[in-house]
Amino acid sequence: MERPFTFINSAMSADGKISSIQRRQISVSGREDLSRVAELRASSDAIMVGVGTILADDPGLGVKSTDLRRARIRAGKAENPIRVVADSLARTPPDAKVLGAGCILAVSRAAPEDRLEQLEGMADLVVFGDSRVDLGALMANLRSRGVRRLMVEGGATLNWSLIEAGLVDEIYIYTGPIIIGGESAPTLVDGLGFAFNFPELDLVALERLGDGALLKWRMKRP
Ligand SMILES: NC(=O)c1ccc[n+]([C@@H]2O[C@H](COP(=O)([O-])OP(=O)(O)OC[C@H]3O[C@@H](n4cnc5c(N)ncnc54)[C@H](OP(=O)(O)O)[C@@H]3O)[C@@H](O)[C@H]2O)c1
Repeated sequence: MERPFTFINSAMSADGKISSIQRRQISVSGREDLSRVAELRASSDAIMVGVGTILADDPGLGVKSTDLRRARIRAGKAENPIRVVADSLARTPPDAKVLGAGCILAVSRAAPEDRLEQLEGMADLVVFGDSRVDLGALMANLRSRGVRRLMVEGGATLNWSLIEAGLVDEIYIYTGPIIIGGESAPTLVDGLGFAFNFPELDLVALERLGDGALLKWRMKRP
């Protein structure tokens, strides 16, 4: 199966949390990291999140900088990358910022008809998988639409499923100078966890960025 080059980008606290126990977004990144993330978004063909992130943070997932949007247009690309939400049961609220032209809402065959009707016309609705979105099929579909570079912006559950399915190439983590704590606070990768055959990584880069550190990892192929 052909799929896009896929990387996860995340900001976490020094203790490995990506949000608080209330699943509330916490400002972990400084100015330097925010501009790095803006450039990463602008260099991607599509940006994907799980519906948990939509419900928690309501991100728009667009490129905010006018300069970066103009540079995309000069390069012959759309002003913004495609926005993709993995949302098996179509729980994305109709007023979510992510919806609109350029948004793909990937649902499963279990998505209730009335929710789909509500979202009709607000996104390109695609169906993959019986009870949960089949991420492999979704990625193959994205590739067939011309997506070569896919940025995943969380959250913890989607990250887990993608890594477990072997669908991730690289992981970029900014670790910021803050402690969040809480055993139920989301970490970079939640889900069921591995009991054996733990995926291994190669360290590609390690740099100081503002008051924190940026680590770039490449997944080793089994
Ligand atoms: N610091 C950061 O960089 C960062 C970035 C993003 C998010 N966050 C934080 O992460 C938290 C959200 O994480 P989360 O784990 O709750 O939600 P999530 O990973 O964003 O979304 C998970 C949801 O995606 C849906 N989904 C559809 N297909 C799936 C599949 N094949 N595998 C897994 N999930 C699938 C599932 O809901 P259905 O079964 O209903 O489809 C699942 O519950 C928030 O607190 C947010 O603030 C932090």
